[in-house]
Amino acid sequence: MRIIGTGSALPDKIVTNDMLAGFLDTSDSWIRTRTGIETRRMLSTGTLRDLAYDAAMSALESANIRGSKIDYVICSNVANSYVSPSLSSILLNRLGCKCPCFDLNGACAGFIYALDIAESFLKTGRAKNILIICAEEPTRFCNWHERETSVLFGDGAGAVVVTTGNNLMGIRVTADTHTDVLYYKRSMERTPYDRVEERTTPLVMIGREVFRLAVSASIKDIDTLMKQCKVTSEDIDLFLLHQANLRIIENIREHLGQPKEKFPTNMQHYGNTSSASIPILLDELHKEGRLNDGATLMLSAFGGGFVTGAALIKWSQI
Ligand SMILES: CC(C)(COP(=O)(O)OP(=O)(O)OC[C@H]1O[C@@H](n2cnc3c(N)ncnc32)[C@H](O)[C@@H]1OP(=O)(O)O)[C@@H](O)C(=O)NCCC(=O)NCCS
Repeated sequence: MRIIGTGSALPDKIVTNDMLAGFLDTSDSWIRTRTGIETRRMLSTGTLRDLAYDAAMSALESANIRGSKIDYVICSNVANSYVSPSLSSILLNRLGCKCPCFDLNGACAGFIYALDIAESFLKTGRAKNILIICAEEPTRFCNWHERETSVLFGDGAGAVVVTTGNNLMGIRVTADTHTDVLYYKRSMERTPYDRVEERTTPLVMIGREVFRLAVSASIKDIDTLMKQCKVTSEDIDLFLLHQANLRIIENIREHLGQPKEKFPTNMQHYGNTSSASIPILLDELHKEGRLNDGATLMLSAFGGGFVTGAALIKWSQI
């Protein structure tokens, strides 16, 4: 696999910590010191479909390829207002794509899961050019009367185009059942025969437990992948980690013993955008010219499930 295009799109609406402190029992200093987040973007007048489209078009332009040349579209999305059809189906015609598509829910690790699947399609010759779109609106899962979860998230979309190549040095995805620490339960229609009372709930999160799982799982993924690929943390130029909490990244960084400059972040501006967080960061670094030809990138993410994933990539200039 080789990444040949990146794109991202964020809603215009900027929501500061102080704005949240206007209706929640929280403060700018609590949110900054506990999470690193200063502002987040939230969908207000637009839709997730538009955001996903903009990110995908930007990735196609960056790859200098038309939608009609794409052989598969994979969309990573935890939930949006449509249960069916999939977000990728909704976008397909607008993007000019005439190929199969599907959505996957790998929670915040969805981008790494999508890369893993794309690599298999490329290896078996099922596809040559694949468009991966990660589009998320986690702010719509939260209870906005509760300070514990609503301050953490932001909406956004990131996308990449991948083609055949030798730049994926290694990839690892994992899953384990810890469904009680992070979940969001929506309602379904009742049938005349349905006798089970199911309680729905906005996003539930046991913050400390998720924190602990995130740090240990991410460290395990990174260490395992480095061992498999016979590289050390010194050999890695940049660590693009899921942008959930600056303190989680700090814990991982301390374990790896690497300088802060190797851990670019943007959660200060966007909060946790779920599976979109790494492709948004990748697009920013690419467009700012911060990805040197031949640079070694370690990507690592974790999310509800508990699922995790890491990928080691050699960057070639697009
Ligand atoms: C959520 C998180 C920021 C909380 O930070 P923490 O240091 O673990 O804080 P705690 O949960 O121990 O809470 C400390 C106190 O702050 C309070 N608090 C929680 N949210 C608050 C907020 N937004 N503003 C002010 N106080 C808050 C708690 O009620 C608690 O008060 P108490 O001591 O009186 O009981 C942190 O646990 C975290 O980031 N976890 C991982 C979340 C994550 O990454 N989720 C997405 C995974 S993809």
